[in-house]
Amino acid sequence: MKGKRPLSPHQIWLNRLVHLLALLPLLALLWGYWQNTLGINPIHTLTLRTGKTALVLLILSLACTPLNLVIGWNWVFPVRRLLGLYAFFYAGIHLLIFVGLDYGFEMDLVVEAMRTNEYTQVGLVAFLILVPLALTSTHHSITWLGYKRWKLLHRLSYLAAILAIVHYALLVRQYYTQPIIFALILAVLFGIRLFYAWRTKN
Ligand code: HEM
Repeated sequence: MKGKRPLSPHQIWLNRLVHLLALLPLLALLWGYWQNTLGINPIHTLTLRTGKTALVLLILSLACTPLNLVIGWNWVFPVRRLLGLYAFFYAGIHLLIFVGLDYGFEMDLVVEAMRTNEYTQVGLVAFLILVPLALTSTHHSITWLGYKRWKLLHRLSYLAAILAIVHYALLVRQYYTQPIIFALILAVLFGIRLFYAWRTKN
């Protein structure tokens, strides 16, 4: 594994753009909350929008490597870490809204909701998987764990995405269109990774 290279001016601008675009949904939510335009149940809107943003960012972070492999877009490669961290950030806010705003930090009620709702259990596992991935997203962690082990650990991001989609599918009940679209995108991304891994071996 090579040492950390300084970012080119082009990458610095790309990182800034990702920061801006990733923070826009949060700013829109804060603005909507302040302006009281989040509908009759703002907490519900906040939960849904932070959950959706976390999932979209997670899928985008997983799309970077396939985009590099298929169309040679290696400029997207450096932002995959940032996108993954923002996915974790929004998932954290999503969970915090659920525990804090929805359940007012009444931990007995939270535990009861977790015990009785399958979709919250699956969401929790997805979130717990994202924790070690976010914690080991630094360059230092790659050196500390060794590249092979680090890579193996970070493959769990696919599992987190699968569980997040299952979490989504479980709560929408019969309106499966969006979870199916997310699942198809994830399947294509995973298929590309598998194909290239197979081609390198043969
Ligand atoms: C402990 C962890 C989690 C809890 C307790 C939780 C809870 C919830 C709740 C209460 C809803 C709204 C359900 C409704 O009333 O319609 C929801 C929706 C959602 N959550 Fe989570 N969630 C968790 C983790 C995650 C994670 C890690 C992701 C993604 C990375 C995620 C993505 C979503 C999505 C995509 C939706 C649906 C958004 C929509 O319908 O537009 N959740 N979650």
